[in-house]
Amino acid sequence: MRVHVADHPLVTHKLTVLRDKRTPSPTFRALAEELVTLLAYEATRSVRVEPIEVETPVAQATGLAISDPKPLVVPILRAGLGMLEGMVKLMPNAEVGFLGMVRNEETLQPAIYAERLPEDLSNRQCFILDPMLATGGSLLAAIEYLFDRGAVDVTAVCLIAAPEGLKAVEEATQGRNLTVVLGALDEKLNEVGYIVPGLGDAGDRLYGTV
Ligand code: PRP
Ligand code: URA
Repeated sequence: MRVHVADHPLVTHKLTVLRDKRTPSPTFRALAEELVTLLAYEATRSVRVEPIEVETPVAQATGLAISDPKPLVVPILRAGLGMLEGMVKLMPNAEVGFLGMVRNEETLQPAIYAERLPEDLSNRQCFILDPMLATGGSLLAAIEYLFDRGAVDVTAVCLIAAPEGLKAVEEATQGRNLTVVLGALDEKLNEVGYIVPGLGDAGDRLYGTV
């Protein structure tokens, strides 16, 4: 597993505002989107491309185009939906599939409650979007789901991770072609499975409590 933690003052600045409990949902949503666009630059570093010819007003040139099959972006509902626009802004010709997952707040076990993905992911590059990597259970279930369907290359983009969850994902995915791109690696998980200092419940902060 390759891990990249953003080391950029603009990312840390935006994350700091996101962490602030006084930041209201509309600002939170805008910042989450901006942060993903910044992280997407690193996350797409190995996106598959092929050479193409273009004619500039001056001469013939060889450039690059994103190859087929197009990358698949998979936001994990609910909170990952807040990251989708920021990602597809940078990579508008990607396809989008959805996985709905919820963590049981007592057992901390994830459950998949919705799925809308291509049946066959053979040879696909997939980008999972989920703001919080806490115990790692949800991300791990999503990663396994995509690899089981034939994905060959998975990149997860998370705003904040706990070291415990990152380690759990790493240990369970040995030998997989997996990259994790993070805005920040926080201090720890608390006794109820929240990231410390974190930002609280990302889904609630994006959309309000349901
Ligand atoms: C949050 C978050 C992750 C998960 C992380 O989702 O968006 O999916 O928890 O926790 P884990 O690493 O311990 O599995 P939640 O289950 O709260 O659902 P929501 O997005 O609908 O709010
Ligand atoms: N899910 C969240 O939204 N926040 C956490 O800190 C942990 C799991």
